[in-house]
Amino acid sequence: MAKDWTPSSWRALPVLQMPDYPDPEALAATEKRLASYPPLVFAGEARKLTRSLAEVADGRAFLLQGGDCAESFAEHGADNIRDFFRAFLQMAIVLTFAGAQPVVKVGRIAGQFAKPRSSGSETKDGQTLPAYRGDIVNGIEFDAASRIPNPERQIMAYRQSAATLNLLRAFAQGGYANLDNVHQWMLGFVAGSPEAARYKELADKISETMAFMRAIGIDAENHPSLRETDFFTSHEALLLGYEEAMTRVDSTSGDWYATSGHMIWIGDRTRQLDHAHIEFCRGIKNPLGLKCGPTSDPDELIRLIDRLNPENKAGRLTLITRFGHERVEECLPKLIRAVEREGRKVVWSCDPMHGNTITLNHYKTRPFERILAEVEAFFAVHRAEGTHPGGIHIEMTGKDVTECTGGARPILAEDLSDRYHTHCDPRLNANQALELAFLVAELLKKDHAAAQQKVKAAG
Ligand code: PEP
Ligand code: CO
Repeated sequence: MAKDWTPSSWRALPVLQMPDYPDPEALAATEKRLASYPPLVFAGEARKLTRSLAEVADGRAFLLQGGDCAESFAEHGADNIRDFFRAFLQMAIVLTFAGAQPVVKVGRIAGQFAKPRSSGSETKDGQTLPAYRGDIVNGIEFDAASRIPNPERQIMAYRQSAATLNLLRAFAQGGYANLDNVHQWMLGFVAGSPEAARYKELADKISETMAFMRAIGIDAENHPSLRETDFFTSHEALLLGYEEAMTRVDSTSGDWYATSGHMIWIGDRTRQLDHAHIEFCRGIKNPLGLKCGPTSDPDELIRLIDRLNPENKAGRLTLITRFGHERVEECLPKLIRAVEREGRKVVWSCDPMHGNTITLNHYKTRPFERILAEVEAFFAVHRAEGTHPGGIHIEMTGKDVTECTGGARPILAEDLSDRYHTHCDPRLNANQALELAFLVAELLKKDHAAAQQKVKAAG
């Protein structure tokens, strides 16, 4: 177990991005209640994810992580969850096929509620109120009452996470993810788009392969991997009181696990070595993510890695880089070189969203071509450094929203107001998400071909 660590040892340290709850007693009472509730995930599942991520770290699998920037209470419905899951499965199958490698599926879902903010307050028409910090903290409506942090919202977030997770488990294990359904994952509004045609072509190939395998006796009935999939949950471990309340000892190993989700990550704004978020995360055994941005320093990164993963265990730590499309070449190689020089085992994942946010027509948006450019630069740098571009981390939805501009069916600046529904950052819609998957698939295919060439040359 981590030395001198307890689930509450973070409380003695400086902490950023924490809400100011007006009634600390009510907050403590809520945290006590949460601590008595059942865990949302099990330690064994988190360990399984760590093993899958170890495969990614070793270059034998690819990580797909994605979902809402912020889940909301208002958008909690079965259709939303199903459409997200469909879009996500489509992306995963495209990537699996192209890379001929397992895709580790991790949603930003069933717990992704708390948001860090660049400013603690928001001003509109001369009125200044506390910033919205996610539905688990306060309300998005711009009025004084809803912006007051309310601990009861943590209970609501817990219950919503439980219900979401229940449906996701059913989808993943109950037949929906059966590869025989590969054609049915197509979303209605995607049909007719260029991605739809490409997807259909791929789905046809898979169906043909399934028919062949059935003919030789391999089918979904006797091979669970053809009819079910592992789907994991993740969120930013920002609201530490909530995370502490959901942290439990695993009876089989005696280790501490955050049971609020399978994987949790540390945001770009809260990764200070001697602060509370790093302290909390170092003591729990779940797989961790660490966001790295333009301000990440190579030496400090090594110290953070050693704090979070002192045993240098593959799969424990995923570095999620988010520099902005023009800064990847400048920022990424020095981090990779430091990690390689020190022999640290990590998963490298690319978040092409958070460094590419701009404002257009008063909307926060992200041009699709910049998102693609960051992913391409990420692959190019890893190819040059000889390291594995292990995954992508994106903000997406299964809905036909108009939040990011561009794409094959382009969203224009003047379209942004049509269906701009996000509670925080702009997300890829299902079309754009699928288009991104095809682009990444091309990059994976190239790497795969190059690797095979190498094997041939060596043999
Ligand atoms: C996020 O992932 O929603 C986020 C806030 O990212 P970052 O910490 O990288 O800014
Ligand atoms: Co975001």
